This record gives sequence, C-alpha cells and structure tokens, in this order.
Amino acid sequence: MIKVISVVGARPNFMKVAPVHKAFIKKHAGVVNHKICHTGQHYDEKMSDIFFKQLNIPEPDFYLGVGGGSHAEQTGKIMIEFEKVLLNEKPDLVIVVGDVNSTIACSLTAKKLNIKVAHIEAGLRSFDRTMPEELNRILTDSISDFLFVTEDSGVNNLRNEGVNEDKIFFVGNCMIDSLIDILPHSDKSGILNDLKLTPNNYVLVTMHRPSNVDNPERLEKLIQLLNEISAKRKLVFPVHPRTRKNLEQFGLMYNLNQNIILTDPIGYVDFISLIKNSELIITDSGGIQEESTYLGVQCITLRKSTERPSTVDIGSNQLVGEDFDKAKEAATKVLNGYKKKGNVPPLWDGKSAERIADILVDELRIK
Ligand code: UD1
Repeated sequence: MIKVISVVGARPNFMKVAPVHKAFIKKHAGVVNHKICHTGQHYDEKMSDIFFKQLNIPEPDFYLGVGGGSHAEQTGKIMIEFEKVLLNEKPDLVIVVGDVNSTIACSLTAKKLNIKVAHIEAGLRSFDRTMPEELNRILTDSISDFLFVTEDSGVNNLRNEGVNEDKIFFVGNCMIDSLIDILPHSDKSGILNDLKLTPNNYVLVTMHRPSNVDNPERLEKLIQLLNEISAKRKLVFPVHPRTRKNLEQFGLMYNLNQNIILTDPIGYVDFISLIKNSELIITDSGGIQEESTYLGVQCITLRKSTERPSTVDIGSNQLVGEDFDKAKEAATKVLNGYKKKGNVPPLWDGKSAERIADILVDELRIK
C-alpha cells in the first residue's frame, strides 16, 4: 500500500483535498491508504467543520489544533505537531494544497524527514512578495517533488524558475471539481430566500487580505465604497474573522449602511449559491476569482496583482488594483449593464483530482 497524508488547514484547502480523497477511494482503493491531517489553522465551526460535512469528507485522521497566532508562531506550531504525526505514520507521500501557512509548514517538515511532497495548485505567482501567500508558494514549490498546476501561467512560472520538466503536471483545477460536485446541492439552497435576495440583483462582497483590512484608513475607505454601491443594490457581506476583528477594533462596524447584509462566514453549499446568483462580486479572495470565472459571474478583484491571471485573461474577473475609485467605476459599469465576457480555462473540467491520483499512483509505484 502507498501511504499518503493530505494536509488541510484553512478554509480554501478543504475543497481542494475533498476530490483527491474521493479519487483515491474511487480508483485506487486497494493501492493507496489515504489519510487527512487538519492542522487547525482555521477552527471555527463556520470556517472548518461545516466544509467537512458538506464536502462529504471523513473526519480528519489527525487534528493538530494549532489555532491562530503570528505567522512564525502558527508555522512553528504546525511544524512541531506535524513532525510527530510523520514520525509515527511514516507516509510515502505528503500532499499539500494552496498557499497558506499550513502548506509551507507541512511541506518543509516532510522534506526534512525525506518524505516526498506533492503540491496541488503549484506555480501560481502574484510577484508580490509582501503577501505571505506568495512566500508560502515559492518556498513550497521549491522543495516539492510533484507540482500539480491549475493554469498555463503556473507552468510558465515554474519553467522560468528553472524547475525540472518532469516535476510539472498541468492537471487543471481540483477546486472546480468540488464546485461541479456541489452545484446540484447549491441549486436547492434556501440562502437567497433567507436573506431576501433576488437572483442577479445583488452584490456579493468578501474581503480578508491584510492589505485591505488590517489598515484602519483602507478599511474605512472600503466601507465608504460599499455604502456607495449599496445605494444601487443590496450587498451581502459574509465577514471573515480577521475582518470582523478589525471592524470592531477600529470602531467601523456600525458605519455600514442598512442595505448591506452582514453575515457570519457562510458554508460551502450556500456560498456557491450566493456566487452563482449574484450580479457582481467584489472580493480579494483567490478562490472566488476562480469560482466566479467558472460560473461566468462578474468579479472585481481589489488587489494589485493576481496569481490567477487566467481568471482575467480568459475569465470574467477584472483586477482594479488597491484603488477604491477604480473599483467604484468598474462596479458602476457592471451594474449599468456592462458584462465582461469570459470563458472557462483549459482542464477546469471536474476531473483534475482523478488526474492527480492517477499520476501519483503511477509515479510512486515506479519509485
Ligand atoms: C488564511 C490564509 C489566507 C487565506 C485565508 C482564507 C495564511 C498566511 N493565510 O488567512 O491565504 O486566504 O486563510 O480564509 O495562511 N480565526 C478565527 N477563526 C477561524 C480562523 C481564523 O477566529 O476559524 C482568526 C484567527 O485566530 C486570526 C485571524 O482569524 O486571528 C486570521 O486567521 P489566520 O489563519 O491567521 O489567517 P487568515 O486571515 O484566515
């Protein structure tokens, strides 16, 4: 048996590991023993547990319970705890996904024990090294043995960094596998009714990047922008724990006007329904740029750069920088009827995780 441990830590990781787990069971049950380790980077019911339930993945085999903290604290704690798991379990392979602190912490721990590492969502680059995620991506890719890439730019970035061709596998996007699986359930969601929203007639907002929410002046400007847009449409704003903490700390919570519906973080089934039915999304998330592109929904990304350029070059995403005036201009255009046409990038077809599982089984059997 090939023993594999996949690592999840933060909310955007769960939907990337779920289809890989299912692919191992469906196609390689007698060959792969697949276990899941949850670092506990995200720990709230609404940031974590609900995703396990809705994605239909089993309870994690290992839970490290590290919680929040500074980057060094969080990364260090994960490494110390994950090393214990690896020493006990001695897996043949560790799979890490995305770009969060759990990703670099666990890949580094595994490689120091000479355990092979596969990185799902490799090669993405924002070229902005002030983002913690960019450092996590570069470092994880530089030590991983198998680099599974979601879009063309990732392959080019890895080549430009001199990575050996035989480590790079262009497999598409396994977050889209989960999205395709969940769509029939999302179509039955009652969230629009619950929030009294009309399809195609509201704006969905998510904002959690330190560059947008950790600075009081920027957060205040963001709220001004949302208040202005809310004169035209209802807004729904599920608030990330980091953003909520800052809104409260900076005394801005009550500056938001009444046409803005604030909610706690929303589970996967309901959130996909909110994305699919929205007229426009304003976000700084990585994953939502991709989900909106797949669903052909208008998306405005409030960031200087995106590590997912195919969502702009091929998809329905627009990058407006960290400029609130540009965001307002772009939002007004969309709400006045302009729609950026978009297509779905290659291999975002619901079969990425199966490709990954097949490749890993082939490669690990040979070695
Ligand atoms: C992390 C990722 C980011 C990803 C985001 C998705 C890193 C460096 N950042 O950022 O790439 O886009 O997750 O959400 O890994 N908190 C709670 N409850 C939770 C989770 C977090 O209260 O369930 C609190 C933490 O204690 C902390 C804050 O929210 O105070 C931020 O959490 P943290 O995991 O450090 O970073 P995120 O901003 O969530």
